[in-house]
Amino acid sequence: MALPATMTAVGLSKTGPSFDVIEEFKFPVPTPSPTQIPIKACSPGRVHWAGVNFSDTQKIQGTWPLPLPPFPFTLGIECLGTIVALPTDKAVLSDEEYTVRRFAVGSKVVSWSAGMTSAGTFAEYLVAEWSDVFPVPDGIPDRTAVASFVPGCTAVPLATEAYNVQPGDTVLVHTVAGSVGLAFAQLAKARGATVIGTTSTRAKAAFAAQSGVDHVIVYKEEDVAARVLELTGGLGVHAIFDGVGKDTFQTDLACIRAKGTIVWLGFASGPVEPFAPHITASKAVKYLFASSIAYTGDKKAGREYVAEVFRLVASGALKPVVHGEYPLSAAGVREAEQAMAEGRTSGKYLVKVAAD
Ligand SMILES: NC(=O)c1ccc[n+]([C@@H]2O[C@H](COP(=O)([O-])OP(=O)(O)OC[C@H]3O[C@@H](n4cnc5c(N)ncnc54)[C@H](OP(=O)(O)O)[C@@H]3O)[C@@H](O)[C@H]2O)c1
Repeated sequence: MALPATMTAVGLSKTGPSFDVIEEFKFPVPTPSPTQIPIKACSPGRVHWAGVNFSDTQKIQGTWPLPLPPFPFTLGIECLGTIVALPTDKAVLSDEEYTVRRFAVGSKVVSWSAGMTSAGTFAEYLVAEWSDVFPVPDGIPDRTAVASFVPGCTAVPLATEAYNVQPGDTVLVHTVAGSVGLAFAQLAKARGATVIGTTSTRAKAAFAAQSGVDHVIVYKEEDVAARVLELTGGLGVHAIFDGVGKDTFQTDLACIRAKGTIVWLGFASGPVEPFAPHITASKAVKYLFASSIAYTGDKKAGREYVAEVFRLVASGALKPVVHGEYPLSAAGVREAEQAMAEGRTSGKYLVKVAAD
């Protein structure tokens, strides 16, 4: 199938802080290289979705602490779509890992742009390296597949390789009402751990509790460290999964158990200030800042983690909750991203790309 010359995409040609910088572009449809797969955003009868992520709000506002792609670039990290054409590179076609994925034109896949390239997913077409494209098993609805993809592919590897959550553990999950926090909480529950979560409001706390979190602390009303110590008999938690960063650092130090692990996975409040590791010598705490890419970037490991996420979804252990859908337009993306930046969201938010 021939690709059209241009497509609608939503992104930035400069950063904010105002969300008015979000623009709708007519971009040329990218030409795939011999190793890439073009993914059609929408096809008749099959809707394509892209996910909204907190890191995009930081890119829009100019607070993302890592380098941005060159302007103008498209926002959006993950998508669900259909394959338009297959790679032509002979080495790719004979790669065992490629063969195992059983790609076919028209088949349903999820993919990510790794968030750092100009090829974001708030667009009608995405061209992705074949190794970043993963088949969606039959029986997983489109919205569930796209809503579980990034949260699951963050929670599963980090709660396995950064700290391996075990039955009987007690873990603390910040941003527990968000899509990523909820995936950590549900996975830890499925592994037999007790989950303590934090969030800003009672409404978000009620949502997290309904979603299975054992103890939810509203951090604007309660002293989190004191409450965690109370819930753990003064011992603290075995591990902390922290997407907040700067504002939760002191709390984490106060309520991590001796020989516990603090896993930073984001910086919603800004990066943690430099500190001297010896301050936790008496507890022998382990720390790491982990991006999911560190675990899923390898093509075999990535495919296996994605398959594991979909298995957990199929088993009911991971239950992504979609709380908002927005159109692929500057206004739609602006509304979604602003709500997320202001902490007004819970669960997952999606951008629906209009059918052509
Ligand atoms: N390491 C990785 O590979 C990876 C992958 C995906 C996402 N992440 C990170 O995981 C975290 C959660 O991502 P998400 O997309 O699911 O977002 P989210 O949790 O839906 O939204 C971010 C949440 O952060 C909380 N927050 C705390 N301090 C904040 C502040 N100063 N400003 C704004 N919000 C603040 C708010 O929740 P409360 O109301 O509960 O405070 C807000 O809802 C983010 O830090 C993200 O960058 C990491």
